[in-house]
Amino acid sequence: MKFFVDTADVSDIRALADSGLLDGVTTNPSLIAKSGRKMAEVIAEICALTPGPVSAEVTATDAETMLREGQYLRGIAANVAVKVPLTEAGLKVCRALANDGTKVNVTLCFSAVQALLAAKAGAAFISPFVGRLDDIGQDGMQLIADTVHIYRNYGFATEVLVASVRHPVHVLQAAKLGAHVATMPPATIRALYKHPLTDRGLEAFLADWKKTGQSIL
Ligand code: G3P
Repeated sequence: MKFFVDTADVSDIRALADSGLLDGVTTNPSLIAKSGRKMAEVIAEICALTPGPVSAEVTATDAETMLREGQYLRGIAANVAVKVPLTEAGLKVCRALANDGTKVNVTLCFSAVQALLAAKAGAAFISPFVGRLDDIGQDGMQLIADTVHIYRNYGFATEVLVASVRHPVHVLQAAKLGAHVATMPPATIRALYKHPLTDRGLEAFLADWKKTGQSIL
């Protein structure tokens, strides 16, 4: 399973890239706004920090402007994946960009038939938002199960990029279902390392080791 980080904070991305566990980055207009920086600058900087795909999202809603925005964004760096919304215009642009060899991430997916449309439109990634479905009392992870199932039925190459991930249990469930990618905020990636028994066990080992008076080096 690939791990992407869902942020436009360059210092967080740099630290996570150093961990060797980072496979890509996703951003959205809200995350760019939170960074307080110019989109083209921040995307270029992120693309230099990771060889993996970096999703940069269009903000137009009509197909013609969206296509021009997508062409501009993919020109920023070779590893930009253009993110488009799951709308009729978005999927039209997805097909046009995919035909030109651009990786497209289709975002704001909330149903399995929407995911089917994105795969038919040639998306490299589909982003179903599990947390936002859970927030309204629906089962976000069922959408992942259905999408993985449908894509396997037809051999679609589109990767299921689980988005709106809020906690480690989402990551566990997505991995069990065979989703290709999970994108998470930096704090959620860091939470994956944590277990109280690891901390307690390490503390005991180190206390016993101290009693020996030895040092390895
Ligand atoms: O980037 C899209 C997605 O991951 C947003 O997550 O927590 O705002 O629903 P969230």
